[in-house]
This record gives sequence, C-alpha cells and structure tokens, in this order.
Amino acid sequence: MAESSAVLRVDLAGVTKTYPPAVRALRGVSARFSAGKVSVVTGANGSGKSTLLAIVGTLAAATSGKVSHGSLGKTREAVRRALGWVGHDALCYADLTGRENIELSARLHGIPVDAAFEAARERFLLAAFAERPFRTYSRGQRQRVALARALVHEPMLLLLDEPTTGLDKDGVAVLGKVVRAEADRGAVVIVVTHDDAFAKAVADERLLLERGEVKEASKGVLRS
Ligand SMILES: Nc1ncnc2c1ncn2[C@@H]1O[C@H](COP(=O)(O)OP(=O)(O)OP(=O)(O)O)[C@@H](O)[C@H]1O
Ligand SMILES: [Mg+2]
Repeated sequence: MAESSAVLRVDLAGVTKTYPPAVRALRGVSARFSAGKVSVVTGANGSGKSTLLAIVGTLAAATSGKVSHGSLGKTREAVRRALGWVGHDALCYADLTGRENIELSARLHGIPVDAAFEAARERFLLAAFAERPFRTYSRGQRQRVALARALVHEPMLLLLDEPTTGLDKDGVAVLGKVVRAEADRGAVVIVVTHDDAFAKAVADERLLLERGEVKEASKGVLRS
C-alpha cells in the first residue's frame, strides 16, 4: 500500500532491532497504527513490546527496516514534539510537587500553565496530593501525575507502556476514558499492557508479539 505523508499514522515495515551483541528483540515487524484508534500491543515478557514502542517514539533506532510517521513529520524533532510518552520511568522531578511537574511540562510546550494544571487535576483526580513533593507519592499517585504530565500538550502520538501499573480500580477506569478521549481527539494511541481486562475495554486494534515477531494482529494493524 502506498505511504502518504498527508495521513496521520505510523507505519513500520520489516523493522528489526538487535541489541549488542546479539539479542534479536524485533525480527521483521510490519504494522500500521492509525489516528483515532487505540492500538493495544500484548505479548510475553521480553517479546519486544517496549522496544517497539521506543522505536515508534524515536527514542531508539531500528537496526533495519522502515518507520514512517505520516503527517507527524519526517524528523525526529517533529515526532518528539508530538509525542506523549509514559514508560517505566515517571519522568518527574522528585523534589517538585505534582503541580510543579505538570506546570513545568506545560511551560516547556508553551501552553498556559494554570489551565493545563486545572485540566490535569480534574482529569486525573490530583487534588488530594498535588501540592506535595513527588517523592512522597504512592505508586498510583506517581502514575497519575506521570500520565497527566505526558498529556499536557495534547500529543498526536501517545505511547503508553503498561500505564495501568499501580492504578486502583478508579484509576484504571479514568485511564480507560482518557485513552478513548485521546484517540477520539485524533491521536495515534498505542498501549502496551499485560492487563487483559483493560486491553479488552480500550482496544480498537490488537497486535500480539511473540519473540520479536507479529504473532497475531487485527486487520487495521496489518500492512498489506
Ligand atoms: N538495552 C538492552 N540491551 C540488551 N538487550 C535488551 C535491551 N533492552 C531490551 N533488551 C532485550 O530485548 C528483548 C525485548 O525486550 P523488551 O523490553 O522490548 O520486552 P517487553 O516485551 O517490553 O517485555 P516486558 O513485558 O517484560 O516489559 C528482551 O530479551 C530484553 O532482554
Ligand atoms: Mg516492556
């Protein structure tokens, strides 16, 4: 199928990743992630999910194969400007409060700081702890702030690696709504998760990795 730079989607063609000296984390992955869809990536520990996400987010380079980001742009800088990322690290400053972490993210993206914090506070129910230093937070509180921080600039490429980690039932429900809303806003949303119930609740498309290869994929993810 022809690739178009006018369409917002991420295309991978025959992507491999080998970590030195010889760990073959991805072995020829072809997939398409479209705007407006929540694509859920699953697979066993070590199957290559986080590696795939890092390559899509330009945080790691593929060893071979092609990655294109459609209308997000051709340069790493353009893709990163559009990127909302929640990985295993919260990317928050321990000595700043939750509010300050979110405000800092807003400032870096040139977004009105007060409005950004208010929106995040409401969306992720931060009021009870937002004025305390991040280092005092429980695991779930950290995750809520990490998510809020990543979404401040309305990213058009949202990559979430095990985002339900540490969240309670209400937190997972909020996250499900947020993920849906981000896709409905028109973003490309890719979620890696081991949580089957969450996957079932949010997935428009599915990709199952096994030892670095696509084991199963829904139609919308397959590249013809
Ligand atoms: N920096 C690295 N150097 C060497 N090997 C690595 C590196 N990062 C990942 N790997 C290896 O690549 C493979 C895929 O790792 P990856 O983190 O992508 O798996 P995953 O599917 O996200 O697993 P999990 O469910 O445990 O998070 C694993 O065998 C892992 O040990
Ligand atoms: Mg992982």
